[in-house]
Amino acid sequence: MTQDELKTLVGQAALQFVPAGGIVGVGTGSTVDKFIDALAASGLQIKGAVSSSVRSTERMKALGIQVLEAGEVESLPVYIDGADEIDHGGHMVKGGGAALTREKIVADLAERFVCIADESKLVPVLGQFPLPVEVIPMAAAQIARRFAAMGATATLRAGVITDNSCQILDVRGLQIKDPKAFEAEVNQWPGVVTVGVFARNRASVCLLGTSTGVKTLS
Ligand code: 5RP
Repeated sequence: MTQDELKTLVGQAALQFVPAGGIVGVGTGSTVDKFIDALAASGLQIKGAVSSSVRSTERMKALGIQVLEAGEVESLPVYIDGADEIDHGGHMVKGGGAALTREKIVADLAERFVCIADESKLVPVLGQFPLPVEVIPMAAAQIARRFAAMGATATLRAGVITDNSCQILDVRGLQIKDPKAFEAEVNQWPGVVTVGVFARNRASVCLLGTSTGVKTLS
């Protein structure tokens, strides 16, 4: 199966977690696009969705799915999103699509995070994928120096301004052995809007697309 077919497979498998008549949190990315398409085609009746990006909002609206503001809900039964990397503890690196801040906000509203990914995303230790960090532009150089002091290299993602009018640093050369401590540390640095480690908001369930079908990790 191609990577695209694996994404379609897990996008469809995620439908089992969508509560009929409920509100679902929706992430961002090519795998989530498959989920949105499957949701629209399924005929499942939901009250609406809270979106994590302009990209997902536009796709859902075009397919007739009602999109609600995050501020309109107190909690969500489930948040469905992809990942750039996931480890066996459900900790993730996210933000390849630059939507990490809104993704973390919507994930934080949810009782359950269902991660959908093809099997290439499962890693023993986070850090091979360049870690996205959303930053306030005037702090970018200082934050890059802090990563350099850790032995890593942070580069500004060229031509990208986030939905929140900020910039993205991509950080290479990390081995994130304690994701929770790492997330807490980097979150304290002035000018960091969001670090792309999702440890506090880790996945409760991961639907992994493999050549032999969907594997559920929980
Ligand atoms: C966007 C994300 C995505 O979930 C992540 O990049 C995975 O994307 P894809 O499903 O296209 O591989 O974090 O900010």
